[in-house]
Amino acid sequence: MNHHSDFLVIGSGIAGLSFALQVADQGSVIILTKKERADSNTNRAQGGIAAVFGNDDSFDLHVQDTLKAGVGLCHTDAVEQIVREGPESIRMLQDWGVDFTHIQPKSPSLDLGREGGHTRNRIIHSKDRTGMAVEHALLENLRSHPNIQMLENQSAIELITEHHLPNTRETTGLHCWGVYAVDGKTGDAHIFSAHVTVLATGGAGWVYPHTTNPDIATGDGVAMAYRAGVPVANLEFLQFHPTSLYHPQGDSFLISEAVRGFGGILRTGDGEAFMTQYDKQADLAPRDIVARAIDSEMKRRGDECVYLDVTHLDSDKVRDHFPTIHEKLLSLDIDMTQQLIPVVPAAHYLCGGVITDLAGKTVIQGLYVTGEAACTGVHGANRLASNSLLEALVFSNRASQSAIQDLHHYQKSGSRIPDIPEWNIEGTFDQEEWVLISHDLREIQRLMWDYVGIVRSSERLKRAWRRVGVINRDIETFYRKTRVSPQLLELRNISCTASLIIRSALFRKESRGLHYTTDFPDRDDQNWLGDTVIWGSNIFLRPLGESLQQPETEQTM
Ligand code: FAD
Ligand code: SIN
Repeated sequence: MNHHSDFLVIGSGIAGLSFALQVADQGSVIILTKKERADSNTNRAQGGIAAVFGNDDSFDLHVQDTLKAGVGLCHTDAVEQIVREGPESIRMLQDWGVDFTHIQPKSPSLDLGREGGHTRNRIIHSKDRTGMAVEHALLENLRSHPNIQMLENQSAIELITEHHLPNTRETTGLHCWGVYAVDGKTGDAHIFSAHVTVLATGGAGWVYPHTTNPDIATGDGVAMAYRAGVPVANLEFLQFHPTSLYHPQGDSFLISEAVRGFGGILRTGDGEAFMTQYDKQADLAPRDIVARAIDSEMKRRGDECVYLDVTHLDSDKVRDHFPTIHEKLLSLDIDMTQQLIPVVPAAHYLCGGVITDLAGKTVIQGLYVTGEAACTGVHGANRLASNSLLEALVFSNRASQSAIQDLHHYQKSGSRIPDIPEWNIEGTFDQEEWVLISHDLREIQRLMWDYVGIVRSSERLKRAWRRVGVINRDIETFYRKTRVSPQLLELRNISCTASLIIRSALFRKESRGLHYTTDFPDRDDQNWLGDTVIWGSNIFLRPLGESLQQPETEQTM
């Protein structure tokens, strides 16, 4: 069956929903989401959204903090764009009904929190459940919009490009005309065609066994775009959040960095406040530094976790600022106002992704990527806390304006979408071999944790590369003869994303930001000041400030 819309949005987090709301007055919108509508990283976001509101703050300071966290690899134009459009984006969210926390209940002034790497208080938040407040307000707004249709349990399988069309020759570059998607309830695959397609599929935390991300974060957008021939970049920069809860029933629950911003102190098991030995910003150093310090303390002492201490802070204020965290911990018999919180680092955020320009455009016509799935140049080698929701908002806003122009252009030119063949199930069978899927998944996650974690080495990366290569081939063979299902798609995408991460990590022979390898422990600006780009079988460095071009000769690892 072919479902058609003017705009097709894949993903119902902040990136997809805010895009949809901004284009819906201009044309029909279908949003596909692979589980229930609120299942997203967005819904879990705690700390908040960075934006300049403080009297002692300035755009320049926010830009400088972002560039410093990104260790030389941020694209300044992209950083300036999100910083300058920050306050306006917050007001847009308020117009959509997001209720941010104010310094006093009736005060017009927003409460400005603090997080690692920020030299000023600039985190706009809704207590410690900012993401939920944003997700629900956006969903509420689009529920009543007559042009928007939201379809749950629909997993995008592949982007539809010239590669899927018989007798079509690629003349002026590739186009995207939508996606094939599988219905998780019926198992049927359908065509969703559109003039404009937006991948807003979020991150890839599930490439690792310990992650703060919900189980939708399987790298689908990165893998789909890469397979379709879109370049991806900087995938070696996978951010580990320093403080996820260490508890058998904790599900890697996040303990927000805002807790440290509020005065929380990291301690070893015998009470030592160790962060002062690692950075002059101590507990509020950027995340790469804090996560590596925790990793090093745990290894040095043979401990399984470290502890976050807020027992010295005013208990009422702690309960008031962090109601979600406080309740969650109480449900596990930890009273954070009286007891230390056991924490460990966990995979959290994909700084790299699908390469886009400042409007979210990719090299394929009609295809935009925004949010965590994109690599816009904002984060460089390490994302500054709470810049992610902001980036998603600003770039979705830009993308919506550009996509509306595209639609008008298509309408004026009278160009039509070509006939798209149905999803081909010839030669595939229903297989009940779930054990293969769960085994492969566990194996990939394990090797990523052991060999491609916070501290890397060439030997470990090479071993990971060999093993994932074998698993990848097995999965491709299984995929080709098995009827498509959401579980199989996710496994295939996790495997693809894992191999892209390993390949990028092996390629970069220096340590910078989130990529730390014992074989090349120093930063090397002379040779590595640029983005690691993978484009088809090519891998190459795009020096900072240079435009994106396929190298003339094949460059493999
Ligand atoms: P998501 O919100 O993850 O949405 C992705 C959507 O795509 C989902 O609806 C998913 O189901 C759908 N999808 C994926 N694949 C497919 C497919 N194949 N077919 C159909 N649908 C698909 N950032 C901040 O700036 N501030 C914070 O305080 C903060 N706190 C965080 C706390 C936690 C616990 C986590 C996990 C992240 C946090 N982040 C924070 C990061 C931030 O939440 C995310 O980067 C951001 O929400 C990503 O938004 P997104 O719209 O790109 O993706
Ligand atoms: C947090 O609240 O610590 C998460 C903030 C972020 O990931 O930006």
